[in-house]
Amino acid sequence: MTRVFSGVKPTGHLTLGNYLGAMRQWATVDQHRAEALFCIVDLHALTVDHDPARVRRLSRQAATLLLAAGLDPRLCTVFVQSHVDEHARLSYLLECVATDGEMRRMIQYKEKAAREQRRGGSVRLSLLTYPVLMAADILAYRADEVPVGDDQVQHVELTRDLAVRFNQRYGHTFVVPRATRPKVAARVMNLQDPTAKMGKSDDTGPGIVYLLDEPDVVRKKVMRAVTDSGRDVVYDRESRPGVANLLEILAACSGGNPAALGGVYESYGALKKDTAEAVVEVLRPVQERHKELCADPGYVEGVLRDGAERARAMSRPTVDAAYRAIGLLPAGVDGGALG
Ligand code: AMP
Ligand code: TRP
Repeated sequence: MTRVFSGVKPTGHLTLGNYLGAMRQWATVDQHRAEALFCIVDLHALTVDHDPARVRRLSRQAATLLLAAGLDPRLCTVFVQSHVDEHARLSYLLECVATDGEMRRMIQYKEKAAREQRRGGSVRLSLLTYPVLMAADILAYRADEVPVGDDQVQHVELTRDLAVRFNQRYGHTFVVPRATRPKVAARVMNLQDPTAKMGKSDDTGPGIVYLLDEPDVVRKKVMRAVTDSGRDVVYDRESRPGVANLLEILAACSGGNPAALGGVYESYGALKKDTAEAVVEVLRPVQERHKELCADPGYVEGVLRDGAERARAMSRPTVDAAYRAIGLLPAGVDGGALG
């Protein structure tokens, strides 16, 4: 059976971009057709300035929202990365396979490091090595597919390179995974700056729709979205990024096709109105389920406990095999171990 792995970082409140670009596909498609694991990757949240209490709170909230979005623990495994030691254990070995140059070429590293330096802050070493930890997340489970939004594709490519290199040098150990992306909305843009990704870790702003925004807040944000000069509604990401973003969001929420929808609207105002309502309707069931789950924190905790146990059992043999393959002496008690 195909195995799927993906994750979300608890660095901010989850957004419409997370939902349309990743989570919805996990819930509606992946968990039904594959053996799927979904992880709240909390170790990744420590790569930038962080507040411990906030990371804890956001981790719990992300878990609750994943379940609210429809992940079903009877069908898939939902867990927290730091509950399973194998991720950090494998990450170190992969650091011994990856190169410094490879890490410095990662677009997300370059962007985040530059932003941090502009602010006068320092760049954590873990920000540089973060894609290696992500590779460990994926490879430890021998995942075949990694459903992600556009911004993560480069990291999955790196994961493939590391898997191939490790296998060539030390013997076949890892499955070489591939990224899968949703057909529309693989890159939802900020409503106030349609040339930038709608990212949850960015400053809170009127251009970001959060999954827990009240309907009226969603409407206000969408109605105030920056559109382009010109008046006719056409789908063109290059010259009309604002309108194209709205058409993609509408298509993703209502099941249409962005280019075809472009021909339907006479004005930007009408497009915004329908997009706002479509987003409100898509978020409604998620918000309702979230409220129910918040009333039962013991349930969410139990799901994470079981999930971690399953994830440990699934990753341990592969990580042990990698330790042996790379030349580390097993600590086994059976006489054969030192042979
Ligand atoms: P992150 O918020 O960086 O942890 O991302 C979790 C998942 O959501 C990843 O698969 C991302 O690629 C996806 N994602 C995040 N932001 C967006 C966006 N604006 N559009 C599409 N997908 C996104
Ligand atoms: N780096 C991903 C992001 O920022 C999150 C992530 C960590 C992830 N480990 C992963 C995604 C493994 C897919 C598979 O969105």
